Amino acid sequence: MKIAVLPGDGIGPEVVAEALKVLRAIESPQRPFAFTQALVGGAAYEATGHPLPPETLALVKASDAILFGAEGGFQYETLPRGLRPGDALLSLRTELELFANFRPIRLFPELIGASTLRPDVIEGLDLLILRELTGDIYFGEPRGDRTGPHGRESFNTMRYDEREIARIARVGFEAARSRRGKLCSVDKANVLETGELWRQVVIEVSAEFPDVELSHLYIDAAAMTLVRSPRDFDVIVTSNLFGDILSDEAAMLTGSIGMLPSASLGIGRKGLYEPVHGCAPDLAGRNIANPLATILSAAMMLRFSFGLTADADRIEQAVRKVLAQGLRTADIAEPGARVLGTREMGDAVIAQLTQAS
Ligand code: IPM
Ligand code: MG
Repeated sequence: MKIAVLPGDGIGPEVVAEALKVLRAIESPQRPFAFTQALVGGAAYEATGHPLPPETLALVKASDAILFGAEGGFQYETLPRGLRPGDALLSLRTELELFANFRPIRLFPELIGASTLRPDVIEGLDLLILRELTGDIYFGEPRGDRTGPHGRESFNTMRYDEREIARIARVGFEAARSRRGKLCSVDKANVLETGELWRQVVIEVSAEFPDVELSHLYIDAAAMTLVRSPRDFDVIVTSNLFGDILSDEAAMLTGSIGMLPSASLGIGRKGLYEPVHGCAPDLAGRNIANPLATILSAAMMLRFSFGLTADADRIEQAVRKVLAQGLRTADIAEPGARVLGTREMGDAVIAQLTQAS
C-alpha cells in the first residue's frame, strides 16, 4: 500500500501529521503502509520554483493513494497562473484523471449545537455531494485576458461533453443505489447549454438505473433547498463549479468545514484524499486546527483505495467517541466544552482506537 503524503501549506502539515499518527496506530506488520512524503503547493514553489515538481508528480503516479493536506497562502496569490499553489491540486486531479469527488456531509449528533441551523432542520443529516472534478469552466478553453472595446476583459469557457457527464452520472447512480436510492442532479439548464446537455445525458443514463429515483434542480434552487430542508437530499451529482460552491455551503450545515473529508477517485482504485477546508494561514503553526477532516479522509482512503472497511469503520467510530466525550477543537467548541489542540485531538482519537482493540 504505497501512500504519497503531500502535507502542503498552512495547517496542512499539522493536520496530515495527525492523520499519519492514526494510520500508524492501526497499521499491522502483515499489512504495512509505505508512506513517502513530497512537496506540493507553496512549499514546493519555495523549494523548487514550481507548485507541482516533477518528482512529486512521479511519486503520485507510482502510488496507490495520496493523502493531501492543504495548499495556498496570500503571498502566492499574485503569482502567474500555473505557478500558484492551487494549480498543483488542479493538475493532480487532471493528471490522475480523478473525475469523481465524494464529499459526504454527515452530521455527528454530538455537534448538532455547533451548526448555525436549527437542530430540527439538520438532525440526522446524511447526504453525499458528488462533484465532477476534471471538466467544466475550471479547465475549458479558450480562457484568458485580452483588451476589448471597454478596456480589460477576461473570459472562461464552460464546457462538458457527453462522455464526461455520463461517467460522473453513473458514479452518482451507483452511489445512490448503495444509500437511500435517491439522486438529485443539479444544473443550470434554464440558461446554459452545458446545463441542458448535462440534464439530457443524466436522463439517458438513468435508464440503466430504474431502481434509483432521479430528480433535477437548478443550482439556485439547490442552494436554497440545502439550507431549507437539507434532509430532502440523498446524493447530489453536479458539475465542477457548482459542486465547489454547494460543498462549502453543505459543510457548514454540519457545524464546521473542519469536519469534512473528501475522496477524489478516477477509473481504478487510486484516489486522492484531502480535507475540504483550506490552508488557513491564520491558524497555521499554532496547534489549534481541527485534524478530524484529515483523519476522516484517511479513513476514506482505507475504504476506497484499500478495501479496509473494518479499519475505516474503526477510525470513524473513534472520532465519534471522542466527540461523545465532549472533546473539541476550537472551531467546533460550544461554551463549556473541553478545547483540545491539533495534536491532542489526534492523541484522543488514537486513545479511543487502542482502547477499542
Ligand atoms: C476545493 C477547493 C479548490 C477547488 C481550489 C483550492 C482550487 O476550493 O477543493 O473545493 O476550487 O476545487
Ligand atoms: Mg472549494
